[in-house]
Amino acid sequence: MPIRRSKILVKWIYENQHKMQTLRRCSSTLRYKELEENVQALEHLAPPATEAALPTHQPRPDITPDVSFKYDDLKVALAAPYQLQRKPEAVDLGFGKYFTDHMLKIHYHRELGGWQKPEITPFENLTIHPAAKALHYAVQLFEGLKAYRGVDDKIRLFRPDLNMHRMNLAAKRSGLPMFDGDELIKCIKRLVQIDQEWVPHSETSTLYIRPTLIGTEPTFGIVAPESAMLFAILSPVSAYYKTNSDGAVSIYADPSVVRAFPGGVGNRKVGSNYGPTIEVTSHAAKLGHQQVLWLFGPNQELTEVGAMNIFLVYINENGEKQLSTPPLNGLILPGVTRRSILELASQWEDVTVREEVITMDRVIQLNKQGRLVEMFGAGTAVVITPISNIGYKETNINVPTMEQEHPVYQRLKDTLLAIQYGHIEHPYAKIIT
Ligand SMILES: Cc1ncc(COP(=O)(O)O)c(C=O)c1O
Repeated sequence: MPIRRSKILVKWIYENQHKMQTLRRCSSTLRYKELEENVQALEHLAPPATEAALPTHQPRPDITPDVSFKYDDLKVALAAPYQLQRKPEAVDLGFGKYFTDHMLKIHYHRELGGWQKPEITPFENLTIHPAAKALHYAVQLFEGLKAYRGVDDKIRLFRPDLNMHRMNLAAKRSGLPMFDGDELIKCIKRLVQIDQEWVPHSETSTLYIRPTLIGTEPTFGIVAPESAMLFAILSPVSAYYKTNSDGAVSIYADPSVVRAFPGGVGNRKVGSNYGPTIEVTSHAAKLGHQQVLWLFGPNQELTEVGAMNIFLVYINENGEKQLSTPPLNGLILPGVTRRSILELASQWEDVTVREEVITMDRVIQLNKQGRLVEMFGAGTAVVITPISNIGYKETNINVPTMEQEHPVYQRLKDTLLAIQYGHIEHPYAKIIT
């Protein structure tokens, strides 16, 4: 390079070094090299082309904020033998206490063209700027699905496409980047395959998969983050709730608190829906109830129970056994288990299935008339949890769920577990290895 031009370049670097932050921030795993080659991305850093020669612009058409990361770009760095954790005994698992040896990470940087290459790395702590939007404004979302080791030793996922769809809806609502759900499923499958020995060899335990998307941009503005991180971690789990000696839970209904409201985000799996439920759940526990029944509105409509969808079984006006759950009105998370229950039970001839508004008055009336036969909660973590008591306004409403000879909840639970653990082949279950 001629001396005069190199002097100009040195002077320019000196004057513009504060702008180099962009480059310093790139981790080695990001598309640093591609950025270097990308004149457009460097335009605001570089001196005019006449002053310093830059490589020819070669845009990568597949990297824009609107285009997803790709499984084909996945890089895998396996844990060294000394990094591998001891696997706990199935009886000690609890829920989300232990984590496997690897994790999935996918960075998003708008200034680098959007989604970066997915990576599987040894499980590790995250380094996050204290101003990251996820930490201040809950610009984040998460999902929960499971990998089941079947009777045939094959590992299955249960309708993961529905979790991906729900994740993208939550991302949209929080200004987080969206992605191709099929690509994430493929990355997650690979992660589970790598850590497959962590999928418990038991039908009472599973490997819980927790994909999470957080806004990492370190600025205080309440706007869509310019940078984000999608990660997935895996945890071998057993029972989520402790039940009473009869195997059911007691729930606490307090009309003065709500979980969600119209126009809000009750129908999205965002962290901001969960933290604020802790105080009332702790209060319920002090009163001897395991979960909270979330009511809404002047008619005290049932919405959800804890982090589960709620179901009732009662004898309807025509004398039929009816399975009912509240409709998806924006206050309710569209549960994968909920949808599967509705679809499966709709094929049964001896049960009428309805989505309908259910008020506390209706529950009390049905119970008084002896027509309320079962109540239960449903979700991935618990599958199905029967409910035998509602604590409501200083009284206890006893629900005869555990007194039924052939309860609907048990039949549904058996069917779901049979699909998940491969006792029956079903399109809901996707074999991954
Ligand atoms: C509030 C809430 N409702 C219902 C559910 C059940 O949804 P799913 O069956 O998809 O696990 C969950 C769990 O994700 C939840 O957090």
